[in-house]
This record gives sequence, C-alpha cells and structure tokens, in this order.
Amino acid sequence: SDPGLVERATAAKAALGDRVFVLGHHYQRDEVIQFADVTGDSFKLAREAAARPDAEFIVFCGVHFMAESADILTGPGQQVILPDLAAGCSMADMAVLGQVEAAWEQFTDLGIADDVVPVTYMNSSADIKGFVGRNNGVVCTSSNAKRALTWAFERGQKVFFLPDQHLGRNTAVLELGLELDDCVLYDPHKPNGGLTPEQLRDAKMILWRGHCSVHGRFTVDSVREVRERVPGVRVLVHPECKHEVVRAADEVGSTEYIIRALDAAPAGSAWAVGTELNLVRRMALAHPDKQIMFLDRTVCYCSTMNRIDLPHLVWALEELVAGRVPNRITVDPETAKYARLALDQMLALP
Ligand code: 13P
Ligand code: SF4
Repeated sequence: SDPGLVERATAAKAALGDRVFVLGHHYQRDEVIQFADVTGDSFKLAREAAARPDAEFIVFCGVHFMAESADILTGPGQQVILPDLAAGCSMADMAVLGQVEAAWEQFTDLGIADDVVPVTYMNSSADIKGFVGRNNGVVCTSSNAKRALTWAFERGQKVFFLPDQHLGRNTAVLELGLELDDCVLYDPHKPNGGLTPEQLRDAKMILWRGHCSVHGRFTVDSVREVRERVPGVRVLVHPECKHEVVRAADEVGSTEYIIRALDAAPAGSAWAVGTELNLVRRMALAHPDKQIMFLDRTVCYCSTMNRIDLPHLVWALEELVAGRVPNRITVDPETAKYARLALDQMLALP
C-alpha cells in the first residue's frame, strides 16, 4: 500500500491513542487489516465492540450492519464510525422491515405466529434485529447458527429465518437433521410469500429469500473442477454457500473456523476455499507451505467490503484527530432497545 498513506494512518492512530479502537472484519483488504486492533468474524467483532467501554471511537472496518450492531452494543459515550458509508451488504438489503412485518401479519392471520420464533442472521439491518427482539427471537452469526436454532426450536414449533436462506437451510438440514422438505422459501416479492397456508402450517423452517451475492456464486461445478485438477484437495466453504455446494464440500464454517482449519492444516496439504477473496489470499500468503487456493477463479471480492480502503481509513482517522466525527453510525433508541434484546440473547446462548 501507498507508503505516504501508511505513514499518515500510523501517525493518526498514534495521536488518538486509546481514544480509538479499530475493528477489522476478515474480508477487509490487507492495507486496512494492518491497522486493525482486532480482527474477527462478525460474532467476535460484536463481542469486541461490547468489550471496549473505554474507547471513545470505534472505527469499524467492515460493513454497515456490523457498525449498527456495534453502536447498539456500545455505551452512550462511544461513537461508531464506518469509513465509507457506501459499505453496505446486498444480503442485508434483501430484508426490509415493511416486508417482514407483512409476512408476520400473514402468520398471525393464519394463527401460526405464536408457534414461530424469528431468528435473524447478523447480516441484517438494525430494524430487522429490532423486529426479532420485539418478537422474542434471537440474532445468530455463522459461528453460532446451530446453537441459535436449537434455542429457537426449544421455544417454538417453527423458525422464521432471515435473511440468508442458505445459512438457514444448511444449518437446519446439516446440523439439526431436519429434512429439506421441512424448509419453505418465503419470497417477499410474491403475494403471500409465494406460499399456500398449508405449506406455511406444515413447514418447520420458513426461510427468507435472501442470499449473499459473493458466496452464491460458488457452484458444484467449482467443487468438481478443483477436485479433478488437484487430487486430494480439501474443499472448505462458508455456510452462506448454496446447500448443494456445502454438501459437496469437505468442511463448512464461519470465517474464524476457516482460519483455524487452515492454520491447523499439515504442511503440504491442499485446500480450495469458498469464501471472500481477501481472506483466502491472506491465508495463502500466510501459509506458503500449504497449497491454499480460491474455490472458483471467476468469483470476485465482496465489492462493499472492499469500499473500505486505506484512503478512507486515513480520512476517517485524520478527521477524528482534527476533532470532527465522520460517518457516525447511529441506531434510534427504540429500535436499538429491541435489537439489543436479540443481540444479548445471542451473546447469552449456551
Ligand atoms: P462471518 O464473519 O460471521 O463468517 O460472516 C461472513 C460474512 O459474510 C460477513 O459479511
Ligand atoms: Fe454481505 Fe456477502 Fe459481502 Fe458478507 S460477503 S458483506 S454477506 S455481500
């Protein structure tokens, strides 16, 4: 990265000292990750944000929903900053509060709402987390989805899973042993979600029709191709991948899981990894004694994660040094109150 920018970021961080804490998601660029005080998956970063009551400013190098969650979990004297406001998440945008409330009304009219526990993936707006908190549900991440779903099924007959159909289906079928037929897909763009009352009454998992535009591009062909090209390769994917891709893989897990698996892999082993490219490249560079490759060379970076680059980080830090607070992310108190219930429930999962 640009040596002038590296120098400026170093100087701005030094000037701010303990007043600033920089969080970096594993999908961030190397030029940004080098300035993170802590790196992690979305679960670890939520816990880290909550565990830093002394930092006046939390600079979140990740995407919008993560910064919102950090704002909800931090104290009143703390401010959360997202270096580029355009760093959203297309999956989180696939569930809009009005649509979710309309679905819930439909469940109420059918007389099934009392049996349904809402669970939302961390990758959702604060509004959606607030909805889930108001309706006694829980937030989950890719590293605790099994525990969250187990908790939910102890409290209701059905789970309404938002917004990632793949994480919901993969966890329900591969971790909890439900049948594929137990899952139905709720399409917010179709009348009544495109489902009949019977389908909704019979379903155990009502999956919102959302997905990750990056992980959704890995295919079973990608897996087949790499197995042919690299005999003995282990295929390791994130649970946001499609069900058939996860089934074809050898291992599945969150970004923290993927890092641990690759760190622990023996020298000489070969791995094809189906997750965001920044992380896979970093792992390949960190382990030159292992053959770590990207599962599908036609899949690219998460474009919104990549919005946070060194120029944006330097700008945000220098603004703070100058006494201004740039790009602050705030959640209104009413939404935050209920979203916090659902987040705290996640943090308290056994
Ligand atoms: P995790 O870091 O929780 O595995 O999530 C991946 C992701 O897509 C975040 O946007
Ligand atoms: Fe959203 Fe997918 Fe990017 Fe994660 S990788 S921020 S889920 S679009």
